[in-house]
Amino acid sequence: MSVSSAVAPKPEWVEKFESIVKPSQDYTTYALSTLNPEGKPKVRHVIHRDLTPSALFLTTTDTRMQKPVHLRHDPTVEIAWWIVEPAVQFRITGQAYVIPPANEADSASKFHDILTGLGLDPDKNVEGKPEWWEGQRKLLWDKAMSGHLRGSFGRPPPGTPLSEIEQKPEDWISSLPNDSDDPKVKKDIEYALSHFALLAIKPTGFELLELKATPNKRTQWTLKGDEWVRVEVAP
Ligand SMILES: Cc1cc2nc3c(=O)[nH]c(=O)nc-3n(C[C@H](O)[C@H](O)[C@H](O)COP(=O)(O)O)c2cc1C
Repeated sequence: MSVSSAVAPKPEWVEKFESIVKPSQDYTTYALSTLNPEGKPKVRHVIHRDLTPSALFLTTTDTRMQKPVHLRHDPTVEIAWWIVEPAVQFRITGQAYVIPPANEADSASKFHDILTGLGLDPDKNVEGKPEWWEGQRKLLWDKAMSGHLRGSFGRPPPGTPLSEIEQKPEDWISSLPNDSDDPKVKKDIEYALSHFALLAIKPTGFELLELKATPNKRTQWTLKGDEWVRVEVAP
C-alpha cells in the first residue's frame, strides 16, 4: 500500500524483517511480554498477523484477557521472536495498544489517545483513521481466523475458574462462521466479534541476532526522535 511522501521513510530494519517474515507466511508466533499493574512481567505467545505500512506489528486479542488490562495501565512491551529458519531472533521493544471496536461508545476519545501513542497522524498515515482498523479487524475475522478460534471469543471469559461458570464446557460454542443469516448464529457472532480486537505495537527498539553467520551477528536499531539509529554489537 502506498503512503504519502510526507510520511517518514521506512525504518531500516523493515527490509531485513520482511526478507525473513514474508506476508505469505501464514503462521508464526512470538512471546509478548507486558507489565501487570504491580509492575511484574507477564509473557505469552501470540500470532503475528501483519506489519502495517507505518511499521506497526499487529496481533489480535480477546478484550477480556489480561494483556488489555496490563496495556491500559502501561503500554510498555517486549517481544522475543525465534525464527528457526534462517536461525534469527528478533527482540522488539515498544508500546502496544488494543484498538477498541469502532462501534464502542467511547471509542473516539480512546482512539485519539491510541493514535498519539502509536505516533500516527490521520493526515499522513493510512492507519490514522478508525475505518482502517475496523477494516483490518473484519478482514482478519473473515480470512485469518478458524471457526474454532472465532468460537473462542463467544466462550466464557478467559481465565474464569470453571467452578464459576454455569455452562458445561461441552455446551460452549465450539465453532463460528464469519457471518450467518441464521438469527441465533448471527447473535453469537456479534457477541464473539465484540470481544475480538486488534493489538498494535509501535516499536522503539529492534534487535536482530543472526546465528547462521560466523561469528554470529547482533544489530540493534533504536528510535531516537524520528530517527532509527543502528549499532552493531558483539553477540
Ligand atoms: C501458539 C499460540 C498462539 C497464540 N496466539 C494468541 C494470539 O494471537 N492472541 C492472543 O490473545 N492469545 C494467543 N494465544 C494465547 C496466549 O498465549 C494466552 O494464553 C492468552 O492470550 C491469555 O493471556 P493474557 O490473559 O495474559 O492476555 C496463543 C497461544 C499459543 C500457544
